[in-house]
Amino acid sequence: MTTIYAERILVPIPVMPAITLAQTAPENTDVLVIGIASNGDAPILVGAPVELDAAANAMFGTSLLDLALSLGADAKIHTTAVLPAIKGSRIVVVGLGEGDADPEVIRQAAGAAVRAAQGLAKDAALHVALSLETTDPELLQGAVEGALLGAHTMIKVTQKAAAAKIADLAIICNCETTDACATALKDGEIVARNVIVARDWVNMPANLLYPETFAKEAQSVAANLPITVEMLDDTQLEAQGYGGIMAVGKGSARKPRLVRFAYAPAGAAFHLAIIGKGITFDSGGLDIKPADGMYTMKCDMGGAAAALAATRAIAELGLNIKVTTYAAMAENMPSGEAYRPSDVLTMYGGKTVENANTDAEGRLVMGDALARANEDEPDLVVDIATLTGACMVALGERITGLMASDDQTADLLLDAAEAAGEELWQLPIPQAIRDGLSSKIADIKSSGSRLGGAMAAAAFLQSFVAEETPYAHLDIAGPAFNTESPFGYVGLGGSGVGVRTLVSLARSLQH
Ligand code: BES
Ligand code: ZN
Ligand code: ZN
Repeated sequence: MTTIYAERILVPIPVMPAITLAQTAPENTDVLVIGIASNGDAPILVGAPVELDAAANAMFGTSLLDLALSLGADAKIHTTAVLPAIKGSRIVVVGLGEGDADPEVIRQAAGAAVRAAQGLAKDAALHVALSLETTDPELLQGAVEGALLGAHTMIKVTQKAAAAKIADLAIICNCETTDACATALKDGEIVARNVIVARDWVNMPANLLYPETFAKEAQSVAANLPITVEMLDDTQLEAQGYGGIMAVGKGSARKPRLVRFAYAPAGAAFHLAIIGKGITFDSGGLDIKPADGMYTMKCDMGGAAAALAATRAIAELGLNIKVTTYAAMAENMPSGEAYRPSDVLTMYGGKTVENANTDAEGRLVMGDALARANEDEPDLVVDIATLTGACMVALGERITGLMASDDQTADLLLDAAEAAGEELWQLPIPQAIRDGLSSKIADIKSSGSRLGGAMAAAAFLQSFVAEETPYAHLDIAGPAFNTESPFGYVGLGGSGVGVRTLVSLARSLQH
């Protein structure tokens, strides 16, 4: 169901296809997904029901494997081949790589296969079954997440009803430990639903999703969950001295907001703070971006989307950890009221900043939110932001940059990301880069040399975190928004990157 606020169509809580566990493919299966893996030099089919081989022989005079190979099946990850209907269902054969599949391989394969299945839908929504030998609960959760995320597509802004392409998903898991499998299914659904919440927010164009409506969205997704939501509007932000958020938002008619989610289950020992960049559109401000670079800048709130959606997932999962999340929301626009390059801003908590460039706006809204988060005295601060083009130059479009106060903290994040199947790569925060932010007119300058821009941004942000507090920064400028073509479980547009790592981090820190 779509929620309509006046003329604005806001994001509904996503309706995902129903997903169930099964021992064998249900009678009504339209598309059956099986795998192909490379075992040494010979490819082998994975999860293919034995009776299909006999049926393939009877119909085509060839084994199912040879039929699949002749139609382009390949063990290479992300490869899919579609076979003709055998015993009433089309077969999608998806590559599982070499050797034993891990949860991320299964997640990618399930996503790619479900997208291929979706391409076969004509008038009626399809019943899809996945048979990828996911007996292990971790593999099963990967299959659940991959299938649901692969089935997700961008919500169209239209009054026409959208026809579902996938009616339901059955995961054939042959689970022996039923309780663990039921938990894997439930947890996978919660994680996928919240990655989708983040994706839908990122995809929502900036004329519909701006600070005021984004804050309303945040409030609405936290309803009926044990999350306390607080929101500061522009008047309150101004009065309380949030000089970074206010300066960035100045040039826009859409005024800034700061949203705070607090999840504090009784008895939780560890306190995690998460801070997300919520620039609903980044035109660059007076240091305006060229048209090509500006077009995708509705994605510049991807960090706030991930932070809020992850917190929602953590609450739904009932993890035993205290989480306080801030989403700093503003629109960066040029106008007669806009902040300028060379302005000196007084941030929340009193530190002054020489603004080097109005396109380095993310670190200003984040600096205020980080300074505010210190007052909660968290045990660990993690921020997530589409922060720098420099990070994309360094790591490309699929890898998140990680910068941390110390290697032990970096390892926490690296381990959490690996368990979640997201890719992080650590960059340092060198002293020389910190020194490059010294200012003649203020306590600190917002950026230094063009070189090493991702690290300079991290150095700037860390200067707002209490000195003794462990801190990690995730730069998702590359992977937050997929403009190329769909791959695995990632479609076009917002990817929801970071949600799974943050949930996995909270899981690893709970007591
Ligand atoms: N939002 C951008 C970073 C970005 C670029 C995100 C491409 C996603 C894709 C950020 O606000 C920005 O413009 N950063 C500047 C900083 C510079 C002016 C110091 C950059 O990276 O060029
Ligand atoms: Zn910018
Ligand atoms: Zn930005």
